[in-house]
Amino acid sequence: MATMQTVQVELGTRSYPIYVSPGLFAEDGNAKELLRPYAAGRKVLIVADSNVAPLYAAAVERAVREVSGEETALCVFPAGEQSKNFETVAMICRTCAQNQLDRGSLIAGLGGGVTGDMAAFAASIYMRGIDCIQVPTSLLAMVDSGAGGKTGVDLPEGKNLIGSFYQPKAVLMDTEFLKTLPRRELINGFAELIKHAILFDRGLFDKLLNAGDDILTHPPMDEMTELIALSCGLKAGVVSRDEQEKGERMLLNLGHTFGHAIEKVQDFCGFEHGEAVGTGLAASARLARELGLLAQDEEEKIEEIVRKYELPMAIEDCKPEELLHAMYSDKKNRNGTIRLILPHAIGHCEVHHDVPDETILKIWESFLP
Ligand SMILES: NC(=O)c1ccc[n+]([C@@H]2O[C@H](COP(=O)([O-])OP(=O)(O)OC[C@H]3O[C@@H](n4cnc5c(N)ncnc54)[C@H](O)[C@@H]3O)[C@@H](O)[C@H]2O)c1
Ligand SMILES: [Zn+2]
Repeated sequence: MATMQTVQVELGTRSYPIYVSPGLFAEDGNAKELLRPYAAGRKVLIVADSNVAPLYAAAVERAVREVSGEETALCVFPAGEQSKNFETVAMICRTCAQNQLDRGSLIAGLGGGVTGDMAAFAASIYMRGIDCIQVPTSLLAMVDSGAGGKTGVDLPEGKNLIGSFYQPKAVLMDTEFLKTLPRRELINGFAELIKHAILFDRGLFDKLLNAGDDILTHPPMDEMTELIALSCGLKAGVVSRDEQEKGERMLLNLGHTFGHAIEKVQDFCGFEHGEAVGTGLAASARLARELGLLAQDEEEKIEEIVRKYELPMAIEDCKPEELLHAMYSDKKNRNGTIRLILPHAIGHCEVHHDVPDETILKIWESFLP
């Protein structure tokens, strides 16, 4: 088995480890030992969606049961963002109650970002807060949502409008789980991984750019483990320094002001989130070059990586004016200006508030087919 990578999220008494390894939940895997501090002698509820539960709930239940010494409870909800609402969180909490979980019990979120966000949100409110651990199964959850402590649900009025900051006690990632992840979901996760590289780490960027052609078809486990651990290390650093997004954590929105605008104008029926972020990364780079902030060869490399990971470089059926308008309504804006994160070099980005509308429109136009 490949060596396990461990990343620590430093948050004082709320610090926690992220473990990344292929085969963690295999019969001879390390999961049992890693779970012991959190699950021993405790009642555990596993939350999973209807795709992930049949694939991995049994393996996770087996490891948890051996350690906890009790039968585990399982709560399964229909897969998909449309389940990310109060009703599902209420169902999770009711399943806790029906299985006599108490303040000393544990919730484990097994799945992608939808599962993780709701499992942790339920843990943050059930009996005014019980412990949770995350077992991310999508690449997006491994590199982005699984660690960092943002939890929540959507409202009909908008995504992620309800939630809390609530850190897990541990995050266990078995990279073998990625073998069943649909290719489009894998690509979504790579968009966020590439984002972390552009933000903070030229070495990681080069590794991603130079990865073999099998990275999207048969992602090699050792390589994935290394890339995910590096990405988690970068995010963990940001979360440690700015847990509640008062400053540096805003940088993680690189590509997202563009991406959210695309998702909104397409009425969330076009690109997936990661795809929109991928286009957003290329748009941020083009804009930075247009403004003289980013060198041409750096911008070309960013476009190259976006293409390599099969992220879209053209937006159909969207008008530049609509996209610009959607950027103004992004919830992360302040004081009626558009806040953009722009690369100054691969590995270094800064926040900008003062980009003229005409320049943004010109960039949008350059992405029309
Ligand atoms: N909390 C945060 O910091 C944060 C950050 C980014 C995104 N998010 C949230 O995460 C969500 C998106 O996450 P996501 O893309 O993982 O969505 P998701 O949880 O819906 O998973 C995507 C799809 O992949 C399936 N799946 C997951 N793992 C699988 C596996 N190993 N094998 C086969 N199928 C698998 C799921 O069933 C689902 O159909 C959004 O709701 C977003 O708001 C949260
Ligand atoms: Zn994102």
